[in-house]
Amino acid sequence: MAYNLLKGKKGIIFGALDEKSIAWKVALKAKEEGAEFVLSNAPIALRMGAINELAAKCGSEVIPADATSMDDLENLFSKSTEILGGKLDFVLHSIGMSPNVRKGKDYNELNYDWMMKAIDISALSFHKVMAVAEKQDAMNEWGSILALSYIAAQRTFPDYSDMAQSKAVLESIARSYGERLGRLKNIRVNTISQSPTVTTAGSGIGGFDVFFDYADKLSPLGNASAESCADYCVAMFSDLTRMVTMQNLMHDGGFSTSGITQKLIDKLS
Ligand code: NAI
Repeated sequence: MAYNLLKGKKGIIFGALDEKSIAWKVALKAKEEGAEFVLSNAPIALRMGAINELAAKCGSEVIPADATSMDDLENLFSKSTEILGGKLDFVLHSIGMSPNVRKGKDYNELNYDWMMKAIDISALSFHKVMAVAEKQDAMNEWGSILALSYIAAQRTFPDYSDMAQSKAVLESIARSYGERLGRLKNIRVNTISQSPTVTTAGSGIGGFDVFFDYADKLSPLGNASAESCADYCVAMFSDLTRMVTMQNLMHDGGFSTSGITQKLIDKLS
């Protein structure tokens, strides 16, 4: 059911790779709620992915951008405001990648160049996105900027490797830039810490099936799906959440505050 929550709002959605992607679901939901937006992803992902299919459904243009490249981001933001005919009200950063995770490196054998790459792609790119938006004055007052995070920023999940550091940096950037953009332009900046979700990035983590099941059982509501994450993102882009900023918002069915649950006891007994 649609509520027209984003009627008249314009934005950029990063990170829709295929129909499992969280950003894909956010795009469909944002469209349903009346938003207009540009879709962006890394040039290589555009070649591999199915983003044109999503673009057709959403009536959106696709503009490639490697989120670590200031030049690409400058081009993306200036073209987006031109195409959409005005400033932006929302931005979704749904981007993550770690070469060390992809290649299954043990934590004591991390390749540091790859680690820097993971932090650049998964965290610093969020700073770059906001720096370009600020420089171009591309956002409207009371706009909303969101990135997706994971609880490995606070707790240890061994196979999450250097993505844990990336997410900790990402959440910290949301606070620091949130202070700045709030003060300058009443723009809010938050991260949503999502349950494990079956996507290309998610399933690339070693032991994913086991911790997906464990998280599901340790969450009174069960794992939050990508669809419900999209609902939350839409709520965060809407005018109903104007005073929420500089937060890491847990969207995890209760996982983060559960010690043990009956479901887990039943499984372990
Ligand atoms: P996904 O694999 O569908 O999305 C990741 C996206 O990052 C892809 O579209 C990929 O092309 C993009 N990307 C990678 N390098 C890039 C670059 N240099 N420039 C621009 N884009 C680039 O997977 P998913 O799960 O939808 O991931 C979205 C976000 O959600 C990520 O930040 C991820 O860490 C986060 N997240 C995912 C969870 C999961 O279990 N799937 C749990 C909690 C958070």
